[in-house]
Amino acid sequence: MAKKEIPAARQTAISAQPRIHQRAAELQAYGTVSHALPLELEEPVRLEMTEQLNLLLADTMTLRDLYKKSHWQVAGPTFYQLHLLFDKHYDEQVEIVDVIAERIQLLGGVSLAMAADVAETTRIERPPRGREEVPVQLSRLLDAHQIIIAHCRQLSRRASEIGDDGTNDMVVSDVLRANELQVWFLSEHLVDAPLVHAREPLQRKAG
Ligand SMILES: [Fe+2]
Repeated sequence: MAKKEIPAARQTAISAQPRIHQRAAELQAYGTVSHALPLELEEPVRLEMTEQLNLLLADTMTLRDLYKKSHWQVAGPTFYQLHLLFDKHYDEQVEIVDVIAERIQLLGGVSLAMAADVAETTRIERPPRGREEVPVQLSRLLDAHQIIIAHCRQLSRRASEIGDDGTNDMVVSDVLRANELQVWFLSEHLVDAPLVHAREPLQRKAG
């Protein structure tokens, strides 16, 4: 009886070994945008917006991490409430990071992702590794918010000026408003209000 022919495609040995340690050239270089997309936004507009959004992303990722650092390292009589508040704001910043990064990708760009790249890009001052007092933690967080808020105002105006309404809307609705609200929650903790004893009313001057 004649031997059955095995088709050439099935002659390669099948292996259960995963193909690990693979590397290849990048699909797309950082700082570029896909040449043509059906978004009705010209390449120069998408280049400028993705560059600006990557700055906003780096600052937002840094603020996000500053919140986790503060959540872990907070100390003092307000430990519990601040521990919870810092983590709530952290979770909200995680969402914002994703919204910004995906906006960069949908505009045809490449989002920053890794900590080393973020550290090289952010404008937020690097804190020490050690623990700091609550007023300093709050001040650092507020300074970081201020940088982000200032950038949001400038970036949203520029986005609508050059016709990128989607970026304008995202920056105002998702980033700016959330940051403004978090600033309020933080800054109220820096009001020097009495904790237990009310202050004496001011004495009227006689005569
Ligand atoms: Fe935690």
